[in-house]
Amino acid sequence: MVLTLRRGTPADAAPCGVIAYEAFKAIADHHNYPPDFPSPPVASEILAMLLSHPGFYSVVAERDGRIVGSNFLDERSTITGVGPITVTPALQNSGIGRRLMEDVMARARDRKAAGVRLVQSAYHRRSLALYAKLGFDVREPLSGMEGAPFRARLPGYEVRSGASPDAAACNALCARVHGCDRAGEVADAIRQGTLSVVEHAGRISGYATGIGWFAHAVGESNNELEALIGAAPSFLGPGFLLPTRNTELFRWCLAHGLRLMQQMTLMTIGLYSEPAGAYLPGILY
Ligand SMILES: CC(C)(COP(=O)(O)OP(=O)(O)OC[C@H]1O[C@@H](n2cnc3c(N)ncnc32)[C@H](O)[C@@H]1OP(=O)(O)O)[C@@H](O)C(=O)NCCC(=O)NCCS
Repeated sequence: MVLTLRRGTPADAAPCGVIAYEAFKAIADHHNYPPDFPSPPVASEILAMLLSHPGFYSVVAERDGRIVGSNFLDERSTITGVGPITVTPALQNSGIGRRLMEDVMARARDRKAAGVRLVQSAYHRRSLALYAKLGFDVREPLSGMEGAPFRARLPGYEVRSGASPDAAACNALCARVHGCDRAGEVADAIRQGTLSVVEHAGRISGYATGIGWFAHAVGESNNELEALIGAAPSFLGPGFLLPTRNTELFRWCLAHGLRLMQQMTLMTIGLYSEPAGAYLPGILY
């Protein structure tokens, strides 16, 4: 049986989406968690977006001409982000995931990416072991929060929609907190109309590309994140991720009725500096 890897195309969205749904559902069912994607069409829709976006690299695994898995690399910013990676359940644990990971890691090396990041479900022993073996370091426990958006205003921290003239301030803030900007994602959020910024003491001191799994937020302090979460009209996807060691923000979310859904792990290779501020990562980190 021959395994081949090739670049993905938009035509792969439907079969890869079914595999992505089934792969996550199989492991989630095993641990009594809800599946990451609610249905195959939703998974296909999200993968279709990634497969047609010039900022994402994709790889599809085929065995004897049949698609058996896929993986993605978010190349929109200085630090690249891996995922979602999925292998059809019947063939998991037979080396295909390792090949898909090695492919995107080679791609990141070829492009001289400063670093590679990913987020994995903490209950998934296999992916944690695989990523550690491939060289990823564990950086941060994350909490997946879910629940209904709530309105909470923080005096002195005004949230408004962001637009192109705000990009430079957002990118400079991200560089101060994380050591590098995430300009590609900020530009996408402006195009999609999901960027929010916080103004405090006459400057932009926080921003969010959205509050959700496929978005990220950065602030000088927890005040900015509380203002952004409190102003969010909706959480994009099943909720959002927060660094669990930020216990103050974790408690604040719990006090506002949000529920802890699952634990996840932020893992990195290459450039990583301990954040000098507050942040919410996305699922692609
Ligand atoms: C995660 C996933 C992509 C991995 O792909 P896979 O084909 O099953 O994994 P592989 O067989 O290539 O690699 C598994 C590795 O982990 C090792 N492993 C598995 N369970 C382990 C454990 N409990 N402890 C230590 N090592 C373990 C295997 O020995 C293997 O190591 P090796 O490559 O050195 O031989 C696949 O399982 C999947 O689709 N899971 C569901 C979706 C998902 O969770 N995606 C990842 C989101 S973060």
